[in-house]
Amino acid sequence: MADTFVKVNANNGNKRSHENGVVESKDAKKLQKYSNGNDHHNVDPAAALADVRHEFGEHGGVNMSIEPSATYTVMEPDHLRQMFVGERGPHTDSFVYSRHFNPTVLNLSRKLAALEGTEAAYGTASGMSAIACALLQLLNCGGHLVASSTLYGGTHSLIEHFLARTCNITATFVDIADLEEVENAIVEGKTKVLYFESMANPSLKVSNIPELARIGHKKGVTVVVDNTFAPMVISPARLGADVVIHSLTKFISGGGDIIAGAVCGTKSFVNSLMDLQQGGVMLLGPTMNAKVAFEISERIPHLAIRMKEHSRRALEYATRLKKLGIKVLYPGLEDHPQHELLKSIGNKEYGFGGILCIDVGSAAKANQVMNYLQNYSQFGFMAVSLGYYETLISCSGSSTSSEMNEEEQKRAGITPGLVRISVGYVGTLEQKWSQLEKAVTKFNLENEKKEK
Ligand SMILES: Cc1ncc(COP(=O)(O)O)c(C=O)c1O
Repeated sequence: MADTFVKVNANNGNKRSHENGVVESKDAKKLQKYSNGNDHHNVDPAAALADVRHEFGEHGGVNMSIEPSATYTVMEPDHLRQMFVGERGPHTDSFVYSRHFNPTVLNLSRKLAALEGTEAAYGTASGMSAIACALLQLLNCGGHLVASSTLYGGTHSLIEHFLARTCNITATFVDIADLEEVENAIVEGKTKVLYFESMANPSLKVSNIPELARIGHKKGVTVVVDNTFAPMVISPARLGADVVIHSLTKFISGGGDIIAGAVCGTKSFVNSLMDLQQGGVMLLGPTMNAKVAFEISERIPHLAIRMKEHSRRALEYATRLKKLGIKVLYPGLEDHPQHELLKSIGNKEYGFGGILCIDVGSAAKANQVMNYLQNYSQFGFMAVSLGYYETLISCSGSSTSSEMNEEEQKRAGITPGLVRISVGYVGTLEQKWSQLEKAVTKFNLENEKKEK
């Protein structure tokens, strides 16, 4: 396929669009400047987003139009052939079929690339499909990757079980905070990928991305980072990562109503995913629907504001819970092992993320507390997922990380009583705090801790 992204962003197919703001222009220059992990604080993702071309609607509407078509007409029969050999494509404002590029998904993708400071991006049907396609694109049958032992349960299963069974791909799971262990696990020439989460689900372990990227590149591997937990807060590509994955289902969508994902990376990597003969997204087919792309595009402008409020409330609750003697895990607290690291690699003004965890001692106690928080004090909902405007509460060990066995959970820092709280922003902070505090008092959680 032709180098689609080089040209598609330089080509202004929409007559009423701004001339500038292509992802490749300003942000790519900044990306080059900061890709070695230096001075990344000078790039505010919100500023990078504001540089992206604003797409107007077909009739001059302030919002872009949706291109809902599955297929596209051509004016000359030979254009179809040209499309399939890559002579025509989005770079000539020509589209062939929406499992390949779709104009609305491309518009969203430009925003995601700007958010993450990558040359390109493309939307997928889910976070899991983004991960699966990226890994399959980078790893051949029988390949090897090094992955963090603390990952979302679904990702862990994909790597540990599915890719092993279907493709004989093997993985070495490492403590991502132990840089020596990571380096030793990478076998030069054999290992192709280093995979981790910027802020791990649910342990909230923060990865030292600049150092991990340095190690990965020294050993010739592609560094892939899932940034689902920390959009805006951390910019992995600006810190040296090669590929950034998102489950857009979470903070980026923010409405708890969409399943979607994205892969952000170089133009050549994203184009390779869409290649007609070799592309994982194109051939396995988990592309994003245009209507979903439109929905998400409309929410990106307030992502920065939402993330700041998620983070502000999470820090406030974590601080107050800690003062009450609760065992709290939150990277914004000084006692968190990667507090200083996050301060040094995080984007200023976005805080420490919207998720905190408390350890209430046992799974049974976790169930009692969660039941109370939803059904009596109305603090939040018992539900998996995160990044919603309401608070979502789940016991990771028996839900989203239950795919891991006891030993794997232990390695990932998941205790049976670990309750993950995705802090929402509805209601006032004090109103919500009083609901949370009630649960602490009712279940004597602070005493639990003292008894240990
Ligand atoms: C860190 C992380 N990555 C990826 C995923 C998968 O995303 P999706 O549910 O959109 O497929 C999840 C889901 O919880 C997640 O927490």
